[in-house]
Amino acid sequence: MAAAVLLLNLLLVMAAADVLDAAAAKSRCVTPPDEGSTVRVLHAFGPCSPLRSSGRFASWEDTLMDLQSRDRSRVIFLASLATTSARRSFVPLAPGRQLLQIPNYVVRAKVGSPPQTMLVALDNSNDAAWFPCAGCVGCASSLPSFTASLSSTFRSLPCGSPQCSQVANPACPAGAASCGFNLTFGSSSIQAGIVQDSLALASDVVPSYTFGCLQKVTGSSVPPQGLLGLGRGPLSFLSQTKDLYSSTFSYCLPSFKSLNFSGTLRLGLAGQPKRIKTTPLLSNPHRPSLYYVNMTGIRVGSRVVAIPPSVLAFDPATGAGTIIDAGTMFTRLVAPAYTAVRDEFRRRVKSSGNLTTLGGFDTCYDGAVTFAPTITLMFTGMNVTLPADNVLIHSTAGSITCLAMAAAPENVNSVLNVVANMQQQNHRVLFDVPNAKIGFAREPCTA
Ligand SMILES: *[C@@H]1O[C@H](CO)[C@@H](O)[C@H](O)[C@H]1NC(C)=O
Ligand SMILES: *[C@@H]1O[C@H](CO)[C@@H](O)[C@H](O)[C@H]1NC(C)=O
Ligand SMILES: *[C@@H]1O[C@H](CO)[C@@H](O)[C@H](O)[C@H]1NC(C)=O
Ligand SMILES: *[C@@H]1O[C@H](CO)[C@@H](O)[C@H](O)[C@H]1NC(C)=O
Ligand SMILES: *[C@@H]1O[C@H](CO)[C@@H](O)[C@H](O)[C@H]1NC(C)=O
Repeated sequence: MAAAVLLLNLLLVMAAADVLDAAAAKSRCVTPPDEGSTVRVLHAFGPCSPLRSSGRFASWEDTLMDLQSRDRSRVIFLASLATTSARRSFVPLAPGRQLLQIPNYVVRAKVGSPPQTMLVALDNSNDAAWFPCAGCVGCASSLPSFTASLSSTFRSLPCGSPQCSQVANPACPAGAASCGFNLTFGSSSIQAGIVQDSLALASDVVPSYTFGCLQKVTGSSVPPQGLLGLGRGPLSFLSQTKDLYSSTFSYCLPSFKSLNFSGTLRLGLAGQPKRIKTTPLLSNPHRPSLYYVNMTGIRVGSRVVAIPPSVLAFDPATGAGTIIDAGTMFTRLVAPAYTAVRDEFRRRVKSSGNLTTLGGFDTCYDGAVTFAPTITLMFTGMNVTLPADNVLIHSTAGSITCLAMAAAPENVNSVLNVVANMQQQNHRVLFDVPNAKIGFAREPCTA
């Protein structure tokens, strides 16, 4: 009961601006234009998010309650992906289990001719691209859907086309002229067609982009809006736009607090930071779309904590190692790594409150935190020191503050460390696939 009240407070602060007066906050929302190859990024749960007005995200507190458990499911899911065999090593447009998708960040995309503006969730651990199509049964009616009949450049892909065979569970029922797929995940399912149309992000137009056109969804695991996977597998956005963007992008993810579309997704080589700390990008042939890096240690304050090397080691065979993921909200570390970080954090933190727990967080203080150590993620060739904003979440009036990380879920294959979006916020994170590098630089993008 008390925990529920505290959680509620916490959520209210994470929403930052006037959640109680969402309408007033919304009236202050500004939508800067997308320009050149730079697309504005919005936090899906921030006060300006168009998704918040939809039934699905009706209440902020419900959303975050839900997110804590979804985060957990997503990490279990990513870990299971990491170990699945080469059978799944090609990445289809809409692999069934990728339905466990959390729309933390959205951008605007324009589909068709003339262009129809859609909201799409960003997910860098996913290769799929899909949009709800007009008449979709079970898609969120409050969000825009794509009306193919209004586009002069739309076409369905015929059965037997090469793209059709790259999709998991392609379906061409007897007599069908065009390719589609039916997928089920737990109690959720989707039915979609494989189609092509032009896709525009900011000022760039990608003609004949192949994506899934949602016709029917059931259950709760399907994101209500479109999805733009930024994974690097075949048929992914990066693969389909290779000539335009050279498989290079960067983003700056804003925090919950930002009202505006204040983050950016910068596509292609132009405008990328020249001087930026980088670490090698590793490839796991069993899971080509995940962005693996070599995390070699973690420093809390000035102390490098003791973590058995095996807990951090990259191993394509087991899927072990560390990935950079924008779709998980709070960083998850394999248990011995988390425990070492947490214990050192507890030793160094100064608070007038007592240690307590909150939801999935086990290191919270029910009084003001007057000092918190920085946490440095150490990678091959690059240290990323996280300031307090990337490490702590606070409730109203500072009545409770938590270390915003958790141990990886214990069950299944608990070998994957996930550097999540809370820890990436207000940094430019560069994904340079041709040169196999990931870069990090501090950049405030929470206006
Ligand atoms: C998907 O399932 C529905 C309902 O069972 C069926 O009508 C449809 O033909 C199937 N679509 C494909 C592409 O297999
Ligand atoms: C990761 O870093 C450790 C420590 O420097 C090194 O021993 C290991 O070979 C590296 N692994 C990869 C895959 O680069
Ligand atoms: C912390 O715990 C002590 C001992 O149980 C108690 O006296 C004190 O009031 C608690 N402080 C807060 C802020 O709850
Ligand atoms: C990262 O920090 C460690 C420990 O403080 C230090 O030994 C190492 O040289 C640093 N690496 C880089 C690339 O700065
Ligand atoms: C939103 O952006 C506008 C213009 O870019 C700026 O004037 C305004 O202060 C921003 N609002 C907030 C709350 O950041």
